[in-house]
Amino acid sequence: MLNTQIYNDLKEHYKKISKLTLLDLFNNDSHRALKYTLEANGLKFDFSKNNINDETIALLTKLASESGLTREVEAMFSGSKINNTENRAVLHTALRSKGKTILVDGINVVDEIQSVLLQMQDFSIKIHNGSHTGFSGKKITDIVNIGIGGSDLGPVLVCQALKPYRKNNLNIHFISSVDGYQTLDTLSVLNPETTLFVIASKTFTTQETMTNAMTARKWFLDNAVNNLDTIQYHFVASSTNTEAVSAFGISPDNMFPFWDFVGGRYSLWSSIGLSIILYIGYDNFCELLNGARDMDKHFVETSDLKQNMPVMLALISLWYINFYDYTTQVISPYNTRLTRLPAYIQQLEMESNGKSVDKNGNLLGYKTCPVIWGDSGINGQHAYYQLLHQGTSIYPMDIILALSDKFSDKTHNQILQSNAIAQAQAFMIGKTSEQAKSELIASGESLERSEFLSKHKEFRGNRPTNMILLPEISPYYLGNLIALYEHKTFVQGIIWNIDSFDQWGVELGKQLAKGILNDIVLENVSSTDSSTTSMIKECITANKN
Ligand code: F6P
Repeated sequence: MLNTQIYNDLKEHYKKISKLTLLDLFNNDSHRALKYTLEANGLKFDFSKNNINDETIALLTKLASESGLTREVEAMFSGSKINNTENRAVLHTALRSKGKTILVDGINVVDEIQSVLLQMQDFSIKIHNGSHTGFSGKKITDIVNIGIGGSDLGPVLVCQALKPYRKNNLNIHFISSVDGYQTLDTLSVLNPETTLFVIASKTFTTQETMTNAMTARKWFLDNAVNNLDTIQYHFVASSTNTEAVSAFGISPDNMFPFWDFVGGRYSLWSSIGLSIILYIGYDNFCELLNGARDMDKHFVETSDLKQNMPVMLALISLWYINFYDYTTQVISPYNTRLTRLPAYIQQLEMESNGKSVDKNGNLLGYKTCPVIWGDSGINGQHAYYQLLHQGTSIYPMDIILALSDKFSDKTHNQILQSNAIAQAQAFMIGKTSEQAKSELIASGESLERSEFLSKHKEFRGNRPTNMILLPEISPYYLGNLIALYEHKTFVQGIIWNIDSFDQWGVELGKQLAKGILNDIVLENVSSTDSSTTSMIKECITANKN
C-alpha cells in the first residue's frame, strides 16, 4: 500500500477533505444520504455521515482494486491456500455454499460439509424429539457449550440474538473462562440426568476448554451413576482432532468434525455451531447459512466496488485508520439481543488483522486493525458516550439497529429507534457554544453563567458514524450481518497485505503460562524478571491459605 501513487493521492486528498465538516458535506450535496446508502439482501448501510465525498470513494475503491482484491476473493472462495503461514485454505464460505465442488488437496470439501450438516441435523432431531435422552431416559433440557474464543463467541452471539427461536424451551449455557467459578456456578444449577455437554474446540488441546471439560466430566460422573458408559449420552464434541476426542472418552459417533480450512473465529457455520442447532433447530441454522451465503454472493458478484457493502464498510474504516489516524472503532448494537456482537467482531477483526508484518514477514509502515470495542449502544449512551461526544479524540462508530422486533414491544422499539438515530445525528451536527449559550439564556440563566456553562455544553460534532439497518433479528438477517463483517475484515487484510487467517500473537502468553503454572504448582520460582517472580510468589502464598 505504501509508496504507491494511489496511497499518495489519498494522502493529498485527505489534506483537502479534512478541512470540510460532515455538515459541509451534507450542505454541498442534497442527495448525499440516498447516494451513500447501499442495500443488500434487506440490509441497509448508510455511510453518508462519514468524512468522504465522491472523490474519496473513487480513490479508495481504486486502492482496493489495485491491491488485487478480485484475484484474492477468487483465491479464497476456490480453496487456494491463502493462509500462507499455516499453508491452509480458508473456506468458511464453503460451509454455507451449495452444490459447487471445491477441492482441497484433491478432496471435494462440499461433500464432507454436507455430510456433517446431515449428522448435526439428525442429532438435533433426536434431542428435540426425545429419542436421544440422558442415561436415565429423561429428555435433555440443558445444553452446555464448553469452548473459548471462536468456539464460544459465535455460538454465544447467535444463541443470544435468536433466543426467541429456541426449540423445546431448551436452556443453553456457555462456559469459556478457566476461572473455576464460572464452571462450578453453571454446574450448580444443572441436573446431570438432563444435561448435554458440547465440547467445542478446533484443536481439542486448548487449556481452558480441556480443563473445563474435565471438570464437567468429573461433575457428571460424581453426580450421576459414576459409570463411564453413560458419558456417551451426555458428552459430544465439535473438533478437528479425532484422536484427542476419543482419548477424552467421546465416541466417534458423538464427534462432529470440521477441518483446518475453517479458522476458529470463522467457525460458527461449522460443527462449532452444533449448540446453535440444538438451541434454535436445524431449519433456523440453515436460514442463518442462507443469509451468510447471500452476503457472500453480494460480495463476490458486485464488481462495482462502490456498490459492494463489505468493501465500502472496509474502506471507510481503513480511511480513518490510515489517513485520519483514528485508532479505535466502536460497535454499537442498539438491540439488546445483539449485545455480544462487539465481542464477536472484536475477535474477528483484532485476531485477524492485528498484525505488524506483511505476508512476507516485512515490517509494515502503516497501521492495521484498530481497537474494536463497544457494548449495547443504548447502555453506552448512559456510560461511555460522554467521551465519544466531548472527548479529545474521535471514535468512528457503527450503529447497528434492527428496525422491527416482533418479540419486543412497539413503544419500546420506537424509543430504541429514536435514540439510535438521534445519536448518529448528534455525533454529526454537534452544538456550538453559541447555540448552547442562547439555550441557557432562554432558560433563564444569567449571561455570565451562560457564558461559562456554554463551553461545557459545546459539542464539536463532525464525528462519523455508519448506520447498519436490519429489518429484524432473524436467522437470515443475522447470517448476512456476520458475513458482512467477515468480508470487511478480509478486504482490509488484502489491502494491508497481511495474512488475516493466522494468529501467532496468541502463542507467547500460552507458552509462558505453562512454565508459570509449573512454578506455582511446584512452588519453585524459576522466572527471570523480578516482577514476574514476585507475582508468582504472591500466588504461591495465597494458595497456601
Ligand atoms: O488462542 C486463540 C485461539 O486459538 C482462537 O483462535 C480460537 O478461536 C480459540 O483459541 C479456541 O481454540 P480451540 O477451538 O482450538 O479451542
